[in-house]
Amino acid sequence: MTSIGDVFAVLDLSVTAGDLELRGISDDDIVTLGALAAQGIHSPDRMPFSFPWTDVPPDELPLNFAQYHWRTRADFSPAAWVLNLGVWSRGELVGVQGVQTSNFVVRRTGETGSWLGAVHQGRGLGTVMRQVMCVLLFEHLGFTEVTSGAFADNAASLAVSRKVGYRVNGTERYERRGELAEMTMLALNPDELVRPDLSVEVSGAERVRQLIGVSD
Ligand SMILES: CC(C)(COP(=O)(O)OP(=O)(O)OC[C@H]1O[C@@H](n2cnc3c(N)ncnc32)[C@H](O)[C@@H]1OP(=O)(O)O)[C@@H](O)C(=O)NCCC(=O)NCCS
Repeated sequence: MTSIGDVFAVLDLSVTAGDLELRGISDDDIVTLGALAAQGIHSPDRMPFSFPWTDVPPDELPLNFAQYHWRTRADFSPAAWVLNLGVWSRGELVGVQGVQTSNFVVRRTGETGSWLGAVHQGRGLGTVMRQVMCVLLFEHLGFTEVTSGAFADNAASLAVSRKVGYRVNGTERYERRGELAEMTMLALNPDELVRPDLSVEVSGAERVRQLIGVSD
């Protein structure tokens, strides 16, 4: 073994579609993403995330952000794992597309989550990166379902889910900043996926399949 990617295969995973690339997040990428997140992902009067990780002073966010990403690496096991991939658009790191799951070998499902720096939103990137992630999950990592959840007031996330083919399959009640907030729950099967117009190239998936315990 000669690199950290040899040790943790997620760091060598890469998915490209046109000028968009999703790939493993290095420590240097964590620094760039933490700074981007501190510049703003949403207006301060809104909270799109079920875990309100952006509700910290901007000067504390980069360390909190790094600790979260280190934790997902440290805790990665076939029993429960989070796969977070950085999103590059024309070579610029613009956000994160992830999926989290537990008992995956049996359940074959996971919840997608994503964010883009505010300056990169509203240009169609959120739709394409979710489509590309779903191609990776369904066609290379053995998923038979993906799910998502978005607060009822998160029009952009709900629109992305709708465009990618997810169907609404219920609601859940959350506490958000001391108030009740309804989360719309969504699910997608492989035959419902609206694929991206671009062809998707994947490298490094076989070693990730070994890591998550998928043999078929
Ligand atoms: C959710 C997010 C990843 C979507 O990415 P994006 O690049 O902004 O989305 P897109 O440009 O691909 O837009 C997808 C659709 O949402 C619509 N949309 C975007 N912002 C909207 C808004 N504020 N109100 C209504 N519709 C909106 C777009 O019009 C588009 O639909 P259309 O093509 O039919 O017009 C991004 O907005 C984001 O990071 N938001 C903050 C974090 C967040 O909410 N994460 C998800 C938590 S569940």
